[in-house]
Amino acid sequence: MAPTTAEAVRAGRIDDVQELSKNKSQIPNRFIRNNIEESSLDVQSSIPVVDLSRLAAGCGEEAVKLSMSCREWGFFHVINHGVDSDLLRRIEKVATEFFMLPLEEKRKYPMIPGTIQGYGQAFVFSEDQKLDWCNMFALGLEPKCVRNNQLWPAKPYDFSETLEEYSEEIGKLCNRLLRYIAISLKLKSDVFEKMFGLPVQAIRMNYYPPCPRPDLVLGLSPHSDGSALTVLQQGIGNPVGLQILKQGKWIPIKPIPNALVINLGDTIEVLTNGKYISVEHRAVTNLESDRLSLVTFYAPCYGIEIGPMKEFVDDENPCKYRNYNHGEYCKHYVTSKLQGKKTLEFAKIH
Ligand code: OGA
Ligand code: NI
Repeated sequence: MAPTTAEAVRAGRIDDVQELSKNKSQIPNRFIRNNIEESSLDVQSSIPVVDLSRLAAGCGEEAVKLSMSCREWGFFHVINHGVDSDLLRRIEKVATEFFMLPLEEKRKYPMIPGTIQGYGQAFVFSEDQKLDWCNMFALGLEPKCVRNNQLWPAKPYDFSETLEEYSEEIGKLCNRLLRYIAISLKLKSDVFEKMFGLPVQAIRMNYYPPCPRPDLVLGLSPHSDGSALTVLQQGIGNPVGLQILKQGKWIPIKPIPNALVINLGDTIEVLTNGKYISVEHRAVTNLESDRLSLVTFYAPCYGIEIGPMKEFVDDENPCKYRNYNHGEYCKHYVTSKLQGKKTLEFAKIH
């Protein structure tokens, strides 16, 4: 008789963290790290909160806050963002329901190695690489040609229609944010829209089950995002898990109900020649609570050439990055393990 999933987990052949968590198994060695930098306990400040409705009303003070956030933090919370809070709850519900399905059901949508779509652990390339305490389910969304329809789950029944609606709303939000970001850089408001062509949008749902030894594992390895913009929705009522690196310290980002976390990705750092920053971040786990995050990546179409814009290069700000094809950067990103800002070395001029 074929061994059951639980037996396989106990025998250490399956590294599905939800199964490990449920079965209260010993943490396999592959998850255990020996030198996790602690987070900062004496944090006075958190990421800025930007009010999109005030930006839309032309409020200068808010525009200054946006530009400060992008220069100094690379992260901010956005409120009054126009995405319906009911939709935020609905996407959270279908994502949670998906992760709660039996392993056999989720394994119908496996992440194929070398890609980052489907259910499983992304960015794993070798047997000796440490694993993250996280289950991921990732799907390409826009343009339609990046979709792999076979990976869209049949259960829960309202998953696809909810994701479709969510994707459209988050896409609109990214477009609006990029306009205000362009204005804050004294560029034409539609400069990124024109440059990016048909933008590529993808979602990654991260589920972090409780972990018996949060001090020994990471939920998600430190990395910067390969996108232009990332929109991160943290589950309402979930514990803190996301941390960002600021001045050498890991700072926890406490969820604000109905706000969304925005961070700039590598594309914006390169385009602005480092004026706006793509900041390293990671996720940690919790002893008793699980945590869900829904992360949308918004990026240019693969075909375009990226490099520092001339507006940001002068004698005082020498060019830090070479020009490259964005599709090649994406390929490089998804075939490299997550390791801080290492992937951006691809474009760095030394
Ligand atoms: C990501 C990410 C953080 C989190 O998926 O790129 O940074 O809190 N996630 O899940
Ligand atoms: Ni990230």
